[in-house]
Amino acid sequence: IKRVGVLTSGGDAPGMNAAIRAIVLTGAAYNIDIIGFRHGFNGLLDDDYQTLLPQHVQNIIQHGGTILKSARCKALHTPEGAKQAAEALQRLQLDALVVIGGDGSFRGALAIAEHYHGQIIGVPGTIDNDVDGTDYTIGFATAIDTALDAIDKIRDTADAFERIFLVELMGRHSGYITLSAGIAGGAEQIICPEFGALQPEDLKTLIAPVQRAQLLRGKSSYIIVVAENSYPGGTTALAEALSTALGIECRACILGHIQRGGSPVGADRILATKLGAYAIEQLVLGANLMMAGEINQQAVLYPMAQTGAKKKQIDPYLVRWQQTIASD
Ligand code: F6P
Repeated sequence: IKRVGVLTSGGDAPGMNAAIRAIVLTGAAYNIDIIGFRHGFNGLLDDDYQTLLPQHVQNIIQHGGTILKSARCKALHTPEGAKQAAEALQRLQLDALVVIGGDGSFRGALAIAEHYHGQIIGVPGTIDNDVDGTDYTIGFATAIDTALDAIDKIRDTADAFERIFLVELMGRHSGYITLSAGIAGGAEQIICPEFGALQPEDLKTLIAPVQRAQLLRGKSSYIIVVAENSYPGGTTALAEALSTALGIECRACILGHIQRGGSPVGADRILATKLGAYAIEQLVLGANLMMAGEINQQAVLYPMAQTGAKKKQIDPYLVRWQQTIASD
């Protein structure tokens, strides 16, 4: 193969730049031209691209965001959009495309594949860690540390004010970030979608452990981490309902997009470098419609079509332990 396109798509994640760098440097080593498309799949539709040379990826490994910009591309959801994107790849004589993103981006790639004669490979980049076929996605480790830093700070003010705090973390429909940051931050309770939908009538299950903690242990702060999309009216509504039921001030802190930013931690830089390099090497060997993932420290290929099929499970051991201590 001689020419390979690369793009970053969907929610950006710290480490995407490290993946782009590895792709460009590996491409140079194999004498492959790397063409970077800007703004995700939109770059294909808008002819917004540039050749990426090693000098373009100097000093980017440490930066969050993505030098190629990212976006969600509505046009790709239409058959015409997917066809147009494939035509752009053919016109630019690209032998292959690397898509760095989550399983939504991989679905977009599969739609293009129906009209494209070249190879497509995915590299998992999302803070959510909700992609099957890899133990971790690029950006997840950094997002945990960012969330943790916030939880530690909230603990200080929660303790000073003797308040209950609900900290809402991202993850779309996955509790990976919430469970991990909650465990590491010593959260008293963790609420995530994997525990089942929380409805207003279930509030008593949250309240009882808070009351027991107050009576028995005299706790002066209490932190509940909540995955986004866990409660019908949102985490602020949940905090208000708890305040009313308990007669204690409960505050909600929605961490939001802070979790997507920042300099990638070492683990994300290493994972991104490994998977970016592996993606190019596997393209050279003929891989198509696969994702480059890592399982038990081994780089592996996984069918792109299966990356969202199973609904990746959060650690059952930690879930059980957390539920045991919360009900204690
Ligand atoms: O997939 C990454 C993510 O940050 C999710 O955690 C979150 O639900 C979503 O993207 C937010 O998307 P947007 O940036 O479009 O609000």
